[in-house]
This record gives sequence, C-alpha cells and structure tokens, in this order.
Amino acid sequence: MKRFRNILVAVLLGTATIVSAQTREFAIAIHGGAGTIENPEKNPERARLYYAALDSALVIGYDLLAVGVEGPQVVMAVVNYLEDNPLFNAGKGATCTFDGTFELDAAIMEGKDLTAGAVAGVKTVKNPINAAYAVKTNTEHVMLSGPGADDFAAGQGLEIVENSYFISPRTMEWVEKLKLESKKNGTVGCVVLDFYGNLTAGTSTGGMFKKKWGRIGNAPVIGAGTYADNETCAISCTGHGEYFIRHAVAFNVSARMKYLNEPLPVASDYIINTILNINTILNADAGNGGLIAVDKEGTIALPFNSTGMYRGYLYKEKEIGAVVKEVGIGPEMVTW
Ligand code: GLY
Repeated sequence: MKRFRNILVAVLLGTATIVSAQTREFAIAIHGGAGTIENPEKNPERARLYYAALDSALVIGYDLLAVGVEGPQVVMAVVNYLEDNPLFNAGKGATCTFDGTFELDAAIMEGKDLTAGAVAGVKTVKNPINAAYAVKTNTEHVMLSGPGADDFAAGQGLEIVENSYFISPRTMEWVEKLKLESKKNGTVGCVVLDFYGNLTAGTSTGGMFKKKWGRIGNAPVIGAGTYADNETCAISCTGHGEYFIRHAVAFNVSARMKYLNEPLPVASDYIINTILNINTILNADAGNGGLIAVDKEGTIALPFNSTGMYRGYLYKEKEIGAVVKEVGIGPEMVTW
C-alpha cells in the first residue's frame, strides 16, 4: 500500500505538469526548448528522436546523482550532452545570428551559497555551460561576454572550436524554414536537487534566430533565465528571452515562494500562465515559453504556455527507492 501511496501523481493543469510534493533522495528536470513545437503525433519518428535524447540526458543525470555526485557537476554533464546534440538550440545545433554566425549564452547557479557564473555571446567555446561554471568558480565576476569570455574560456583550458563547428544540417533546415520569421525559440537547461539537499540550475542556448547587434537573451541573466536558492527552488527558463528578462521570471518564481509562501507549482504556473499569458490579445507582456524547476523537497514543476516544451524529469523516492521518469513534448508526458 505504501508503494501505491508514494507513486507519482502527475496532474495536468492546462499545460503545467505538476508532480506532487514528497521527500525525495534526489530529483532532476531538463528542458530542450519551448515554442511552436510540432505535435509529436504528427511525426512519431521525429518525436522518438527527441524522447530518446531527453531520456538519455535524464539517465546521465541519474547515474551521477545515484553515486552522490554534486549538483553542479550533474548539471554540467547533462547540459554538455544536450549542447553536443544537434537536435537542440545550444552548442552544436545552435541557431544562428542575422549574419549567419553563432553566439552562445549560458549560466549556472548554486542554491547553497547563491554563487553564479555566466557567459554571453561566446563564439568559440564548445560547451558554454562549462565556461559559465569557470566564471563562477575561478573569477570574482558573475558574467563575462564576447571576445573576453572566449579568451577567458581558452585560458581555462576549455575546449575551443571554430565558429562553424556549431552548424548542423538541422540548423540549416531551420534557416530555410524560418527565413521569413522573426524569431526562433529554444534553449536547453537542467535543474537538480542532489543527494546533499542542494539545488543547482543551468541553462545554455544559441539564443534567437537572426538576433542582431550582440543581442543577449535571458538564459545567462541570473534571475531571468537561471536561478537557484536552497530556500526556494532551482529554475531554468526557455522562451522569448526579452519577456523573461523584463519579468525576471526565474527570480520572481523564487520570490513568490519566499515572500508569499506559495508552493513551487503555484508560483511557477502564475508567472508562466498569468503574467506571460499568451492566450489573450490584451496582454502586452505575453511571452511564449516555459520553465523547469525543482524545490528542496524534490517537487518538480514544468509549466509552459507555448504549444510544446521538450522536457523530462526523474526522481528517486527516499523511503522505498522507487525511481520515476517521464519525458514530454506536447501537453502529455510519457514513460520512455
Ligand atoms: N530564451 C533564449 C533566448 O531568448 O535567447
């Protein structure tokens, strides 16, 4: 009976998947971007590729969390996998700027001491999340940008590549398909509650298609795209960055929990589906996208207001050791 009592209760509230709160040994959630995403039923072959990639990312996280690896290393390993996978708009496969070049953003934050690091507009760092971590760990700064950030990453011994490394056939497909559109959303992220009760959040992105003038999105902006506080939650956002910056989305979810005592699912759903609500023409602040978040109990929230969000979560229950894992693209989550 106990096992049944502890089994996952996944509640679909609009497009917000909420996993019921209970004490967990560890928990991880990931995203691979939100936006106008093809209904998985329309193209099952393609959906399978995404489900499999999301599942692999969760398994990488699980294998590390299960042997006590700490949150930042787990977040980096998982984000590295997503950065190296051309299916996603981060690292290899990133979307391109107006000039056809690649400028990448990333951030990481630890909830135990509020330390954070970020890079913006890097052009040669193979895995920008690693450069963000190096900023956090090895400098007195929080965010480095442009050529300085590339130089810093090289000096740290991180893997450096030609800018053309980031091109993938998929990117070129996007370029053809989206030539007439003004934007392309998509980002990857990972949030973790580790074995030691610490929260970490990380986000990495190529930004928005055809971005100009050194545009920086929300992903590397602490509080807008990435945030972690052990007292509240760890969050990684994806979507139309300008709106997420204006509404300090990640920080606002954390603040609602801290100052209004709102549970994570309520706070995150309010910001994504009320403040950024895209389903009313009256809302000038409508910004499409979503977020993934985990709190100190291991409660996971994955709200989005777009047609879909590549996402997944996994957690291990403390008492009975059961592991629950699901991935999703459209409104439904599936066990993979
Ligand atoms: N959310 C990613 C960006 O706007 O750059």
